[in-house]
Amino acid sequence: MNILEFQERKHKKQKISMITCYDYTFAKILNETNIDCLLVGDSLAMVMHGYPTTLNASVEMMALHTMAVAKGAPKKLIVGDLPFMSYRKSLTENMNCVEQIMKAGAHAVKLEGARGNLELIRHCVDSGVPVMGHLGLTPQSVHQLGGFKVQGRDEKAQNLIKQQALQLQEAGCFSVVLECVPSVLAQEISRELEIPTIGIGAGADCDGQVLVLQDMLGMNEGFTPKFLRKYFNGFEELKNIFNKYHSDVIHKEFPTEKESYS
Ligand code: KIV
Repeated sequence: MNILEFQERKHKKQKISMITCYDYTFAKILNETNIDCLLVGDSLAMVMHGYPTTLNASVEMMALHTMAVAKGAPKKLIVGDLPFMSYRKSLTENMNCVEQIMKAGAHAVKLEGARGNLELIRHCVDSGVPVMGHLGLTPQSVHQLGGFKVQGRDEKAQNLIKQQALQLQEAGCFSVVLECVPSVLAQEISRELEIPTIGIGAGADCDGQVLVLQDMLGMNEGFTPKFLRKYFNGFEELKNIFNKYHSDVIHKEFPTEKESYS
C-alpha cells in the first residue's frame, strides 16, 4: 500500500483499513495481516505511557515508537502523528519535527486541524512528505473543545468542518481522518472530497476506518464509546492467562521436566 493506492481505493469504492500500532511486537503481527495502513498515533501518550490526554506525546516519543513499528512492519504504509505543538512554531522548527518522524521510518505524517496548518502542509507536500489531515474531534485541542465530545452537531460547526476538509485537500493532504462526527456529515464530506476519508466514530460511509489497537482488542478496560467494536475481551482474557501462570508457578506446575534442561 502507498498513497497512490489510497487514492485508487477511493476511485474503486474499496474501503481502507487502518489501525494504530506503537511497538515492534504488534507491528510484526500486523505486517502479516491484510490491514492496509498503520498509524503511530499520538494516542500512544495515553495507551502506552498512561497520560490522560495526547498532549504529553513528544517528537522523541513519536520517533522512538515509529522506529519500532517500522522495524516490525516493513510491508506496511506507516503514518506518524505530529504531536501537540510540534507543528505550531516556525516553519523551520515544524519541518525539523517532520524530518524526525520521517527519518524514524514513517511514510507520511498526520496533523490535526486546518487553521494555521495549510502552509506547513503545502511545504511538506512540496518536500516529498505526504500529509494526512484530521478533523472533527481533534484530541490535541481537548481543552479548547471542552472534553472528548462528538463534534459538528450544529449547522455552523458542520459547515466549518466541511470547509476545512476542502482546505486540507486543496493544500495537498492525501487523506483526512474524521473523528467523532455525525455519520451524515462524514458521508457528505466523503462524497465531496476526492481524497479518501478515514473515520473513527464517523459512521459507515467514510472511505476507510481506523481504530486504536488496544481498544479494539478490549484491553482498555472501561473504555466503551458507542463507535468501538471490541474484537477480543483482552483485559479479562489476559488477566486470566497471567493468573494461570501465577497459579502454575505457586503450585509447582510450571516448569515441568519437559520445560527444563537436562
Ligand atoms: O492518535 C490516534 O490514535 C489517532 C486516531 C484515533 C485517529 O489520531
